[in-house]
Amino acid sequence: MLTGKKILLIISGGIAAYKCLELIRLIKKQGGSVQVILTKAGEKFVTPLSVASLSGEKVFTDLFNLTDETEIGHIELSRAADLVVVAPASADIMARMANGIASDLATTALLATDKPVLVAPAMNVRMWEHAATQRNIETLKSDGILFVGPDEGDMACGEFGPGRMSEPAEILAVINESLSEAAGPLDGKTVLITAGPTHEPIDPVRYIANRSSGKQGYALAQAAYDLGARVILVSGPVNLPLPEGVEVLPVETASDMLSACLEELPVDIAICAAAVADWRVETPANEKMKKQGTGDVPDLSLRQNPDILHTIANHQTARPKLVIGFAAETQDVIENAQQKLKSKGCDLIVANNVGSGSDVMGGAKNTVHIVSHETVKDWPEMPKRQVANQLMALLAEQLESK
Ligand code: C5P
Repeated sequence: MLTGKKILLIISGGIAAYKCLELIRLIKKQGGSVQVILTKAGEKFVTPLSVASLSGEKVFTDLFNLTDETEIGHIELSRAADLVVVAPASADIMARMANGIASDLATTALLATDKPVLVAPAMNVRMWEHAATQRNIETLKSDGILFVGPDEGDMACGEFGPGRMSEPAEILAVINESLSEAAGPLDGKTVLITAGPTHEPIDPVRYIANRSSGKQGYALAQAAYDLGARVILVSGPVNLPLPEGVEVLPVETASDMLSACLEELPVDIAICAAAVADWRVETPANEKMKKQGTGDVPDLSLRQNPDILHTIANHQTARPKLVIGFAAETQDVIENAQQKLKSKGCDLIVANNVGSGSDVMGGAKNTVHIVSHETVKDWPEMPKRQVANQLMALLAEQLESK
C-alpha cells in the first residue's frame, strides 16, 4: 500500500503516456498522492486537464512559470516526493538525465532531486537498441537510477521487440518495492558519528588543530541517513554543507566532543571518524598572548586529551553494538591498525595512509583497509562518498547478524 506516500510522476513524450492515466489511478487507489510534471512532448499525448482530473493536483509544465515558482518552486517539487517516477521515459529524456542536462522543468527537477528515481522507458525498438541509448542506460544505472521494463512486444510503430513501456500494474509493483527498500536496512537504528578536527585553544585567538576536512565523516553521515538511520553527527569545526536529515552537534574541543557523544548514548553504531587532537594546552590564556620582544617563547604545557573512541568502546552500561574507529597512519598502516583495534577495544578499524603525497586529508578520495579482529580487507581507491556507502552497507549487515 502507498498510504501517505508522495510520488512525483514525470510524463515525457511517447504514445505510452496514455497508460500513465491508469498509473495515476492505481497509485491513488492505494492511498498515494501524485504530483505530475508533463514535458512539452508529453503534452502532445495527454492533456494537463486529464492528468489533473485524475491526480486531483495541479499539473506542472513550465520551468519559468512565476506562479508555480512562488507557490512551490522546482527544487521543492523534486524533494517533496518520496519517489520520482519517469514514465514513459523517452530516449531523449534519458539522454538528458544521463548527461546532467537541465533544459526544462522535468530535467531540472530530476537533476535537483535527492530522492530515488524510477524510470519506465518507452521507445521504438531501434532507438532502444541504439548504442547511445544503451550507453545512457549504463550511466543511469551506475548513478543509482532504478528501471522497470521495457517489455517486448508489438509496438505502435508496427515493429516488434523491446521498447514497450511496462504495464501500469507492473510499474505500481516496482514503485511499492522501491519505496519499501527506500526505508533502508538501518531503519529504526541510531548512528553516532564524530567528524572533522578539534580545535584546542592556546589563547582566545590561537588554537592547535590538524588538516582534517571532515569529508569522510560527513559522507558517512549522509550514507547512514540514506540507509534509513537516525544520524547524530558530532562535528568539529569544518567548512562543509550540512548533510540533509542529519542532526549535527557542532563542537570545538575534544572534551566537548566527548561530552556531546556521551550524552547521545545509547546508540546502535558509533563511528569515530574525527581527527581528535591528541593534546590540549593545559591552561589556555584568557587574553591574547603577547610577544615580549625579548625573544622568549611561551611555555605551552600540554595535557593528553580524553580518548573518545576508547571511552565509547569500553562503556560499562551503554556500549553500542558496533564501535568503529579510523586510523590515519603514515607507516606500517595495517600493523598499527591491528594494534589500535585491540588497544581501543573497538570492532573495526578503517585504516588509511595519510603520508605525504597521499592527498587523503582534505582530498576527495580515500584508499582504505578494513581491519577486523579476524580479517584485513583492502578496498581500492574510491571517492569518499563511495567508501561511506560501502562501509555503511557492511555495518548494516554486521548489525543485523549481531
Ligand atoms: O589514537 P589515534 O588518534 O591514532 O586513533 C584514531 C581513532 O581514535 C579515530 O577513530 C579517532 O576518531 C579516535 N580518537 C578519539 N579520541 C581521541 C583520539 C582518537 O576518538 N582523543
